[in-house]
Amino acid sequence: MKRHLLWLFLLLQAIAFSYAEAQTKQHVLAGDTTEGRTGASFRTEVAAAQSGGQAAQEPGADLVESALAELRKLYRPFHHRIRKQHGVFGTLLQFALKALPSLRLSAPPPETPHRSALSGPLLHATRLLEESARQNNSDALYILAEMNFYGNFSYPRNMRAAFDYYHQLASLNGNNSALYMVGLMYSTGIGDAVQRDQARALLYYTFAANRGHTRAEMTVAHRHHVGIGTPKNCDAAVKYYKRVADKAIAWYRSGPPGGMAWTTEAYRIADETGGVYGEGASVASAGSNAIKAHPNSDAYASIEDIIEYLDLMSQKGDFEASFNLGRIYYEGQRGLEKNMQLARKYFFEVTQKYWRKSRPVDSPKPNLDKTAAKAAGYIGRMYMRGEGVEQNFDRAKFWFERGAALKEARSQWGLGLLYLNGYGVKTDVIQATELFKMAAAQDYAPAQVQLGSLYLDQGQSDDLAAANHYFELAARWANIEAYYYLAEMNFFGVGRERSCSAAVVYYKTVAEKVEPLVSSWAEANLAYEDGDTELAFLEYLGAAEQGYEKAQNNVAYILDPDKSRLPIPKLLDHRSRVPSLLQNPTLALIYWTRSSRQGNIDALVKMGDYYLYGIGTDVDVDKAVQCYTGASEYHQSAQALYNLGWMHEHGVGLNQDYHLAKRYYDSALETNDEAYLPVALSLLKLRAKSAWNTLTHGRINSIKDEPKPKKDWSLSEWINNFLQDDAQYYDDVYDDLYDDTMPGGDALDFDDGIMESFVILGLAATLIFLVMYRQQRQQMARRRDEETARQRRQQQQQQRLQQQQQHGGVQAGANGEDEQQQPQPQDRGLFPQPGDPDFGQWVAGGIGH
Ligand SMILES: *[C@@H]1O[C@H](CO)[C@@H](O)[C@H](O)[C@H]1NC(C)=O
Ligand SMILES: *[C@@H]1O[C@H](CO)[C@@H](O)[C@H](O)[C@H]1NC(C)=O
Ligand SMILES: *[C@@H]1O[C@H](CO)[C@@H](O)[C@H](O)[C@H]1NC(C)=O
Repeated sequence: MKRHLLWLFLLLQAIAFSYAEAQTKQHVLAGDTTEGRTGASFRTEVAAAQSGGQAAQEPGADLVESALAELRKLYRPFHHRIRKQHGVFGTLLQFALKALPSLRLSAPPPETPHRSALSGPLLHATRLLEESARQNNSDALYILAEMNFYGNFSYPRNMRAAFDYYHQLASLNGNNSALYMVGLMYSTGIGDAVQRDQARALLYYTFAANRGHTRAEMTVAHRHHVGIGTPKNCDAAVKYYKRVADKAIAWYRSGPPGGMAWTTEAYRIADETGGVYGEGASVASAGSNAIKAHPNSDAYASIEDIIEYLDLMSQKGDFEASFNLGRIYYEGQRGLEKNMQLARKYFFEVTQKYWRKSRPVDSPKPNLDKTAAKAAGYIGRMYMRGEGVEQNFDRAKFWFERGAALKEARSQWGLGLLYLNGYGVKTDVIQATELFKMAAAQDYAPAQVQLGSLYLDQGQSDDLAAANHYFELAARWANIEAYYYLAEMNFFGVGRERSCSAAVVYYKTVAEKVEPLVSSWAEANLAYEDGDTELAFLEYLGAAEQGYEKAQNNVAYILDPDKSRLPIPKLLDHRSRVPSLLQNPTLALIYWTRSSRQGNIDALVKMGDYYLYGIGTDVDVDKAVQCYTGASEYHQSAQALYNLGWMHEHGVGLNQDYHLAKRYYDSALETNDEAYLPVALSLLKLRAKSAWNTLTHGRINSIKDEPKPKKDWSLSEWINNFLQDDAQYYDDVYDDLYDDTMPGGDALDFDDGIMESFVILGLAATLIFLVMYRQQRQQMARRRDEETARQRRQQQQQQRLQQQQQHGGVQAGANGEDEQQQPQPQDRGLFPQPGDPDFGQWVAGGIGH
């Protein structure tokens, strides 16, 4: 009740404020005060009367009150972080925990709400809320909507009911959150509550955004930025992104000295397994993106293992291990909560080794001084910000001075901050500037930002250039304030040309960085870890709408029906068990598309797959080719190159051409040596087919650089040929690798191991047979699909164009085999042209639907 009153008070204040503003505006503009004043005061009175009535009692408020009391009985915090256990017991426990969610999933999916299944307090509370909602109580409507949407209190989800409640609330009093949710449901068409409709979605989002709903602002900005349901419009995008960025930076600065701190939660689920195509095959984990072993990557070791190892080293007296532990606990990361007490303990362990009786020890171990200085910087920071300790500027100064005496950047910056703001000392801007300069020279981003903003305040053109320089330096470290300053300078044209396109990207980065303020990443990740994939999906969906590429990728990945092509997981994965909410390939395609448009290459390849196999859309081989071609530019995706090679080999969507196929396979190998085995096998098969084709004078373009086969082309010659080519490959790649490690240098001498080679070839042949057999079957299936799709298209055409009907009919009748090589009359390219009826839907994010 207290919160309610507070809320009303704030609302009243806001109304009063906005009318006061309107009044002053009129005063200035018209010079006639009387009209404005009477109008304003009249309206304020009405508003006050209305809210006064509400404050007295919104109908049904008491019902909500008792419903909440009922629900409180139910509510157990369901999500909590589980620190991974170690040892046999821990592993067992983990498995048990993993098993729990799947048991929950195996319950019959709630297609229709099982009201009868509700019982006890939940049923009682629901009845009370529904009664209250009938009296148009906004709280009741809101809670009911959330329960139906998110399934709070394990209420069975019902998207249609959720939509109705949100819609009712939105039309009742224009509640921002309700408007936003209605927009979200129109945008995604989730749970079949409503027809997907991007125009309406944008309308509702814009309503909510104009009333200051932060997520809606981001969503609208994103839509204008990339052009979803509306043409691209930089000015509109920057307007909304700036609003969010302004809030973001205000929130950031409202924190302790040095700004708010939080751990980044945004990540791609798929990346945990090496990308959507798995380790090595995805752009995310191949080539230059291949995961390097470094302490912050959990590629080769979990964070728990790292901590355990460091702890051991630390106990043995390794001060660097202690320092790193302190840093890990101080900064925290996804899946590891910050722990200021432990951080402090480890930092003090380090400093105690260096400063004894407030004097540095004589002849310290090498590097101890540097490490101790860094630890001092952290301790000072903790005192300055009151993290894990009582805030105390004197102590902060003490530790910063210790660190700064050793020229440590964090300490210099901290001391500078104390002097700049007069925290516990007399304000001294000159000294602060000196300190910031020293820290900035060591490439310490926060100091660079401080220095930049000091220069910015001077305002001369030289100073602006210097400011710009420092901000750009700091932006290399992904510093949020640096991004914000750069955005502002680009937006207002300060110290540089005005540039909307640059400003919008910087604002977007700022907005997306402040995850706790604007998004539900943390909740989504927790739900996902807990195995509640549906809830995670709903939470990621919001972030995806807001424009987070990673969330778009996650949504698509969760919905992806084609996650694994391996046969074994298929056995375990019972399709029927996938909840109906997550069976939505069309939505998956939409989000792959959006993710790819933000530059995700793997998503682009995925799009190609969907068009090739007709997942969530009609089969459209041309679009598939265009996606693969886009992804293979600059040799980015080996998978795309491989697919193109495969299409050339089989004449699917592209001319059957063995020579080109080989070129693509070769490029795939160049792009990505991890793909060696599958590509080598495909090449082997291709060579065999090409040789057969040449031998039988087939009509397909064979591999050219192959020596012209003599009449008595023998298997042994052919094998030799193949091995020669192959040896060349090995020579190129492994030359430098083996040069100095292997005596003799000749690492892979195939002639020596003829027997071995034959064994390998035998195995390979078996594999090839299996692969070919499988592909043959797939191809047959695809041919069938394409044939039906083609027939359908032709029928449509028949209705429209009489002449083409005859033409197409004759062709299809006479030459059904050649279908792939004929230009498809309905081809419209990857992107529909403006004016095409599909254009509206295409810009809305999904092609062709
Ligand atoms: C609730 O609101 C709707 C539309 O705003 C109105 O038609 C209806 O009469 C209201 N019901 C009650 C009980 O006030
Ligand atoms: C929307 O209505 C609900 C329920 O009355 C309220 O809790 C929430 O704060 C409102 N949202 C906004 C943004 O006003
Ligand atoms: C329902 O659950 C969602 C997701 O966990 C949460 O964001 C929301 O605040 C909850 N609503 C209520 C009324 O508890």
